[in-house]
This record gives sequence, structure tokens and C-alpha cells, in this order.
Amino acid sequence: MVLDWAFAVNIGPSEKAGEKDLVLVTFISEGQNRASGVFREERVEATGEDVTTMGGQGIYTTQKEYFRDAYRSGVHGWPTEGPTGAILQFLKKMRREGIEGRFLDIGCGEGRHLIPFARAGFRCEGFDLEPLALERAEGYLRKAGVRRRVNLRKGDALRLPYPESSFDVILDSGCFHHIRISDERRFVRGILKVLKPGGTFLLTVFDVNFRHTPDELVHKRRRWLVHRGHYDRFFTAADIRRVFGKEFVVRELVKEAKGLSHFWHVRMRSRVAGGSG
Ligand SMILES: C[S@@+](CC[C@H](N)C(=O)[O-])C[C@H]1O[C@@H](n2cnc3c(N)ncnc32)[C@H](O)[C@@H]1O
Repeated sequence: MVLDWAFAVNIGPSEKAGEKDLVLVTFISEGQNRASGVFREERVEATGEDVTTMGGQGIYTTQKEYFRDAYRSGVHGWPTEGPTGAILQFLKKMRREGIEGRFLDIGCGEGRHLIPFARAGFRCEGFDLEPLALERAEGYLRKAGVRRRVNLRKGDALRLPYPESSFDVILDSGCFHHIRISDERRFVRGILKVLKPGGTFLLTVFDVNFRHTPDELVHKRRRWLVHRGHYDRFFTAADIRRVFGKEFVVRELVKEAKGLSHFWHVRMRSRVAGGSG
């Protein structure tokens, strides 16, 4: 049997370095798109890898290549233009509540959410690891006539290069679910540092029922997998509350399910008193 690609689904309890997890490995045979599952034990290492270096062997290195190829080919699973409906609804509500100021889009991709926030009067910062995505974003922002309201910057979400309390609103649409569980606290600390006290954090992540293909096996304990060289993490509502509930008040948790696409859209406010909410 010729294998053109394979992915592994973790169904074990832990992602800690050196611990043995039970991993379901599914091979898809070339041209047949047929899945066969084998169980085996595998060691899962927490690398602490720097996402921005290309020299490493870890998942963030292959993930960076995955995103680069996605933008090069223009073929990827998320929309190029037009914001997510739930994020637009959040924006409308925030405007009614008088929230304004500086907006950061982490993993902004081609900038589809920067446009409505810039139009709503926010001073915007688009931030992404992939230069080609930022180049495309620049084109779309010009076309929409909002280029001068947006600054674009390349960098890693785990090393946000902004001073403390820089932003009133931060959005992460589809970036956090590519961050390893072992880096989750580092990510949350970074958001809390650059968000103003009481500021808003908007998040879109995969729900546990998200599938890439109709024949993908979804085990009830599946929380992450490596798919075509990148890392995908999946959440229940309880997972989201566990990760963010200590430092944020979850104001809205909206589930979206369309075919294979299952997402959570979350509106949160940092618990520290003051600032905008
Ligand atoms: C699924 S795309 C979503 C793009 C955009 N937010 C949207 O909703 O259309 C994820 C984006 O996150 C970026 N990304 C992934 N890991 C990142 C990291 N560690 N730091 C910054 N950006 C990252 C990718 O380059 C990609 O543009």
C-alpha cells in the first residue's frame, strides 16, 4: 500500500513531555481516501520550540510550512474575504456598548476581520507569522479603503511585541487552536499583558466535533491532532471555560455547526477592573 499522508489522533490523557499517550494513527492510502486505524503508544514531547525559527524539527516548524504553502497556493479551508458572522455580531454589540480604541487581530491572515473593525473606527493592528498573508491583507485593506487605519506586523503569537495594556479589543480567529496545549498558559499570559484591564477578547476555535473530511474518526476524548503537518486543537464549552475562565468573564459562547465545520465563537472580558468591557 502506498501512503501519501498520515495523521495521528491523540486520545490519551496528557500532552506532557515524556508521558506515554495512546495514539490512534490513521493512514489514508493513495487515491482511495480509505482510512484504517491502528492503536499504538507514542511519546509526546513538549518542545518549547521557538515558532519563528525554521531550523527545528518540531510541529511548529512543519506548521509554518503548512501556512506558507496554504497562502502560496491560495487553497485553504478558511475564507479569504468576508468576516465571520458571529464576530460581526460581537462587533455590533460592542459598538452599542461604546467600546472603541485599539484593536489587535492575532493571526489576522489576509485581514478579513481587520476591515470591519477599521470601518467601525478602531485603530487596528494585524499580526501574523506568515509574510505572504500580510501582503495579501495589505491588498484587501487598500481595496476596502481602510489601509491607513491598519498597521500590519509579522511575528509570533507566543511573543507579542507590544507594550502592556496596548489594546482595548483583541481577536483571535483560528490561531489559538494551532497552539499546543503545553503553550496555552504562555499564550493567555501574552494576551493579558497587551490587553487593557477590563478589555475584550474575541476568540474563534474548533469545537470537538470539527472534522476535516467526512471519513475522519472523531473519538470523544480527541482534543488535538496533527493533520497534514499542522497542529489542531479541539474544545468543548467546558474546556474554553477552564482555559480562560480564571482571568476572563465569558460573556457569550456561540456554537456554529455547518456540515463538517464546528466552531465556538467566544466574547470575553478580562476580569481586572477598569478599561473598556
Ligand atoms: C486558520 S488561519 C486564520 C486566519 C484569519 N484569522 C481568519 O480568520 O481568516 C490561522 C492564521 O494564524 C497564523 N498563525 C499560526 N500560528 C501563528 C503564530 N504562532 N503567531 C502568529 N500567527 C500565527 C497563520 O499564519 C494563519 O494566518
